[in-house]
Amino acid sequence: MTWSQRRATLDDLDELMALETEIYPDDAWSREIMAGELGNEHGYYLVALADDGAVDAYAGLLAPIGTGQGDIQTVSVAPRARRRGLARSMVLQLLNEARRRGVEELFLEVRVGNEPAETLYRELGFEDLAVRPNYYGPGADARTMRLIVPPARTAPAGG
Ligand SMILES: CC(C)(COP(=O)(O)OP(=O)(O)OC[C@H]1O[C@@H](n2cnc3c(N)ncnc32)[C@H](O)[C@@H]1OP(=O)(O)O)[C@@H](O)C(=O)NCCC(=O)NCCS
Repeated sequence: MTWSQRRATLDDLDELMALETEIYPDDAWSREIMAGELGNEHGYYLVALADDGAVDAYAGLLAPIGTGQGDIQTVSVAPRARRRGLARSMVLQLLNEARRRGVEELFLEVRVGNEPAETLYRELGFEDLAVRPNYYGPGADARTMRLIVPPARTAPAGG
């Protein structure tokens, strides 16, 4: 199976909500929240489409131009599509978009103990900033992580 990625639009709302409720059965975003995310002028969402047509992943950035700061809002990959590098690839694309918007500090929240996600973010250079007790509900703490956005890497010509 291979996947292609493109920017998400409100037309993707139904498929994103189907995946959202599958991945987060206990605390999925409501349709209204997801629609607000997709329609937010300061947002930037990507979807990954499998070659069978299914939306298998999405990831979103919120980065108002002029603030120098941005947030990774979500990174969500269908179980069948995990460990193929989709999340890493999407976060790197969000990072490029953040850089384009002048973001210097990129933040995110991840549930403490969500080892796949914490490992992914650490591998990409995010560092621990704080723990926010009960952020996701009683006993479900959030870790706030931050990446100081590095300059774009360019390869030497002919190198
Ligand atoms: C976390 C999540 C987004 C990772 O998506 P993914 O597409 O499988 O991740 P990738 O294949 O890009 O993995 C990149 C790296 O992250 C780390 N990683 C990913 N899944 C991991 C796992 N289950 N255990 C340990 N490390 C993991 C690895 O370092 C991996 O690199 P490697 O495969 O070369 O070892 C996915 O598991 C998911 O959707 N989980 C449920 C939703 C969620 O928790 N989202 C994060 C909310 S903050």
